[in-house]
Amino acid sequence: MLVYTEAMSETVPKTFYLETFGCQMNAHDSEKVVGTLLQQGYRQVPTVEEAALVLYNTCSIRDKAEQKVFNRLADYKKYRAQGKQFGVLGCVAQQEGEKIFERAPYVSLVCGSASYRNLPQMLVQLETGGKRITGLDDRATDKCFETEYTARTNPHRGYITIIEGCDKFCAYCVVPYTRGKERSRTSSSVLDEARQLVDLGYTEIQLLGQNVNSYLDPDGKKSFAELLAAVASVAGMRRMRFTTSHPRDFGHDIVDAIDAVPALCDHVHLPVQSGSTRVLDAMQRLYTRDQYLERIAWIQAARRDISITSDLIVGFPGETEREFEETLSLMDEVGYDSVFTFKYSPRPNTPALRLDDAIPDLEKARRLAVLNDRQKQIGIERNRRHVGQVLEVMVEGKNPARRQWIGRTSQIKVMNFTCPVGVELTTGSYVQVRVTGNFPNSLVGEFVNASGESNLFHKSVPEETSDSLRG
Ligand code: 5AD
Ligand code: SF4
Repeated sequence: MLVYTEAMSETVPKTFYLETFGCQMNAHDSEKVVGTLLQQGYRQVPTVEEAALVLYNTCSIRDKAEQKVFNRLADYKKYRAQGKQFGVLGCVAQQEGEKIFERAPYVSLVCGSASYRNLPQMLVQLETGGKRITGLDDRATDKCFETEYTARTNPHRGYITIIEGCDKFCAYCVVPYTRGKERSRTSSSVLDEARQLVDLGYTEIQLLGQNVNSYLDPDGKKSFAELLAAVASVAGMRRMRFTTSHPRDFGHDIVDAIDAVPALCDHVHLPVQSGSTRVLDAMQRLYTRDQYLERIAWIQAARRDISITSDLIVGFPGETEREFEETLSLMDEVGYDSVFTFKYSPRPNTPALRLDDAIPDLEKARRLAVLNDRQKQIGIERNRRHVGQVLEVMVEGKNPARRQWIGRTSQIKVMNFTCPVGVELTTGSYVQVRVTGNFPNSLVGEFVNASGESNLFHKSVPEETSDSLRG
């Protein structure tokens, strides 16, 4: 596919290279961006060298993300002479805005996620030699980025955004400034997309949102828990997940839905950030330690064995040693299956920037190491309870070097398992695996049999040629 550009007075191929950093929301946004570009006649290529248009979908949640983006762009200055065009998308684009053109003048497009719905028009501007094209809609926007075509990269697990943006304004977090205000899609459009995915062969669906459980159906037809139940009840759906939940909006009806609908997975990710009510207040998290623990008690009282994971921040401005220890005691009290842990890092525009970030980086690193050590012990304990159980696993791949298959349980635990010689599995199939051992972050097991309508092949492979399958 060729396009005529007035600026260059020559035809250039409509090829693009896209690199993505950051969270699942960003990864899924990229799938939609790719879908939009393909619809506009572009072709995706695997290297910068082959591309006429180079795009970076950036993340600015922690650390010096903006500096990393500028360093990356500087690496690609050399391609300028070849007439390549560069675009910066995502959170750093929204955060830095037109400053990007000043520091990297060869960039032609700067577009935050709240403006992706305008990408087709922006692409036309680019193609006609436009310079300094911006899509920097801020919190005013009330539109979602819905695409006719999304180029999904995983053929079995499909992501569906149900709510974009965030209105919570936690003191440390840049998201409300980069992704705009909360706006939900209608439950009927979410359900339509889920049905389409199942028709295409997807068996696992994950509903996404920065604050997925703040979902508010614009048509007023379904609450979040009702939407969960409805999507998970679509015929052909095997597994449904949702992330990320905010404790303040986490209602008992979500636990009831998990108990009632088998396809809803046995897992809740409920970020706590800190175990100290004083720090939670300074973080503007809108709940206390006790209120958080109340929600954990609901989950633990469910009929199903629901795994619980969380996000934790150490070294928030003013966090004392005692307050840090409250986070450790909360971890013991909950018994998390796993946690993501972070050192606090100051972010532009956020209220916490005004607080004195006096905790030295070495001390933050020490607290992080203590936290991770504690979780290692808790994780081993939590995983040990599965030994001897037979769990359903969705097969994700094979590790020939270790002669093992790899997959995930409903509780989102990684399972490495062996399979008898002569049995070949396909990715995306579901199998029953007996757990024989465990590590802090994974389980080990052996294949028992296929589960339901799995694509499982019993091949008659001569023993000596099937080494890679032997456990
Ligand atoms: N510093 C450290 N961690 C942060 N997170 C978000 N903002 C910051 C920050 N400024 C963490 C929170 C959030 C996760 C996605 O990233 O734990 O839940
Ligand atoms: Fe950031 Fe808090 Fe919103 Fe999560 S809820 S995206 S941590 S502001």
